[in-house]
Amino acid sequence: MSKIFKKIAVMTSGGDAPGMNAAIRSVVRTCAFHKIGCVGIYRGYEGLIDGDFKLLSARSVNNIINRGGTILKSARSDAFRTEKGRQDAYAQIKKEGIEALVLIGGDGTFTGGMLFNKEFNFPIIGIPGTIDNDIFGTNFTLGYDTALNTVVECIDKIRDTASSHKRLFFVEVMGRDAGHIALNAGVGAGAEEILIPEENLGLDRLLESLKRSKKSGKSSSIVVVAEGDKIGKNVFELRDYVEEHLREYEVRVSVLGHMQRGGAPSCFDRVLASRMGVKAVESLLDGKTNCMVGIINNRMELTPIEKAVKGHSEINKELLRVSDIMST
Ligand code: F6P
Repeated sequence: MSKIFKKIAVMTSGGDAPGMNAAIRSVVRTCAFHKIGCVGIYRGYEGLIDGDFKLLSARSVNNIINRGGTILKSARSDAFRTEKGRQDAYAQIKKEGIEALVLIGGDGTFTGGMLFNKEFNFPIIGIPGTIDNDIFGTNFTLGYDTALNTVVECIDKIRDTASSHKRLFFVEVMGRDAGHIALNAGVGAGAEEILIPEENLGLDRLLESLKRSKKSGKSSSIVVVAEGDKIGKNVFELRDYVEEHLREYEVRVSVLGHMQRGGAPSCFDRVLASRMGVKAVESLLDGKTNCMVGIINNRMELTPIEKAVKGHSEINKELLRVSDIMST
């Protein structure tokens, strides 16, 4: 390893995700392993500007691997979007003697880090932490696996009542502009239909599919709707439309909302976070910067952070076909 650091900082930013604490723990412990000081920055870029810092030891991160959320908190920061805000942040970093930053978050977090690197030539490494799985350069983002299991568990519960009352449920899930949560959890939960922004199913095809389900003897149905779906109606309007056009259906809506962001991280996310934290710190020690850590074909890889931010996380076409076949 070519570079020597005395002090590295870690922070979380953007929407929280299960596994962020496991990643914080891994960054802190990898720093301790390499006898480097590690500073926790609280409240993301807002806390960076305020100098809201705390030196973290290997013991500071005991018993957090199994906790959802982030002990470093997260906050959106309008001030950091200004040059003055970033200058104030840089002054705080220099005052604290911080020499590099590990940023755990999504594309918005990385965009801020890119600016910081560009304006101050300051070393940064990103760890993709968001339940949306919408970041280029990694097969999985931290929190995605846990969110999938949360959604599947919720839909299994909804299926019990749907089948008891012979009802159709529209279940809205998160994912921002991506349909990964909807598609994977929909297949996993056996949804009859899955509406995602990457595919415009269209209202007529939805009605046809629901009619077919009814004819085939299905007395209840689950339709998973990604919040970014472009069918043009929100789930409540979809309910009204289907009730109007398919009188035989009694329709209900369930919006899963922020429970998809909480909960104890799955084993997969805890292991992924531990691997990403080590890779992030040791990449800095190897002199790398302006990159994002990712897992690709089960190997830890680095992607230039600009590519990660500008890239697109493609929907799995083979899984789309599986989903269509499973609706038979
Ligand atoms: O990016 C993670 C995410 O949970 C998205 O899936 C969702 O659209 C958004 O954050 C919600 O943001 P907020 O927590 O600010 O309401």
